Amino acid sequence: MQIHGVDHVEFYVGDAQQAAFYLCTAFGFRVSGQGGPETGLEGARSLLLSQGGVRLLLTTGLDSRHPATEYVRRHGDGVGVIAMGVDDVQESFTTLTGRGAPALEEPRTLEANGATVRTAVVAGFGDVTHRLVERHGNAEEFLPGLIDLIAPDVEEGEHLFSVVDHAAVLVPAGELGPTVDYYRDVFGFDNIFQEFIEVGDQAMDSKVVQSESGKVTFTIIEPVTSRRAGQIDDFLARHGGAGVQHLALLTDDIVSAVQTLEGRGVRFLKAPSSYYDELENRLGEPDLRTADLRETNVLVDQDHWGQVFQIFAQSMHVRRTYFFEVIDRHGARTFGSGNVKALYEAVEREKANV
Ligand code: FE2
Repeated sequence: MQIHGVDHVEFYVGDAQQAAFYLCTAFGFRVSGQGGPETGLEGARSLLLSQGGVRLLLTTGLDSRHPATEYVRRHGDGVGVIAMGVDDVQESFTTLTGRGAPALEEPRTLEANGATVRTAVVAGFGDVTHRLVERHGNAEEFLPGLIDLIAPDVEEGEHLFSVVDHAAVLVPAGELGPTVDYYRDVFGFDNIFQEFIEVGDQAMDSKVVQSESGKVTFTIIEPVTSRRAGQIDDFLARHGGAGVQHLALLTDDIVSAVQTLEGRGVRFLKAPSSYYDELENRLGEPDLRTADLRETNVLVDQDHWGQVFQIFAQSMHVRRTYFFEVIDRHGARTFGSGNVKALYEAVEREKANV
């Protein structure tokens, strides 16, 4: 079983048009496809957004049988499906279900406009599922026969992001181990990083799992219940169980990406001035100018391979659950140990200011 990468991410939302409007105006995505009963998509209406190699499908259920309807009732808008590109859906589905993955949709073949796309769906964590996607032929097509493509505007939108770097998954206490085991034993992922993080009297445990290809990465975090309840517990209560807290979008120029996004109204979490005062003592000279990092509030960390630059956007979700991260890797393949804590602290400061 070969997992190439994140093929697309499907959000289940109350109003796909409204969600698309925000992502297009603020984050520079463009609408590249749409589907509904008239295009062959039963029980739902979807808009496909694209930017670089990032594809987001926004889906609103039109009847109670569609999974998006029940998902939104339980969780509000959020990530419902993380789709993975594979080289053989039938073989992957057989392997995954043989290893214990619950089967949610049998392999099917979609064919139109010179493209053949095979899909199947298995369970993930919480109410999030994984669609396996195998593509042949016309690479422009997405889900042929379900989603109609929309010709791109003359202005092709922005190219701030290239791929989904990772997803951060929050799970209730006691579920970190079983969730990591599921991705290791069933999907063949490696546990590449782990960390116990303490911030004041709060604490959390985190492990990072990654596909063999290195292209699908989940940071999985659980709260430590012997400590005071914190933002992980808040997310789990507001979201209604395990779910995706953030998707990290990979950019190759984080300083200008943050400046562009801020100009479009995206607000980012701030880092204290002391963070930048201590930066060069902690890490030496960063690859990007400290003055630019200070001005944009971008955090920097490093692993064995190089540096990594990260920032969290403020959640625009009505429940204050889901948000985007922007990440720029200068060699780093994993995560530094300082940034998870620094990002957690940024959220604490934001909560204190609200
Ligand atoms: Fe992250």
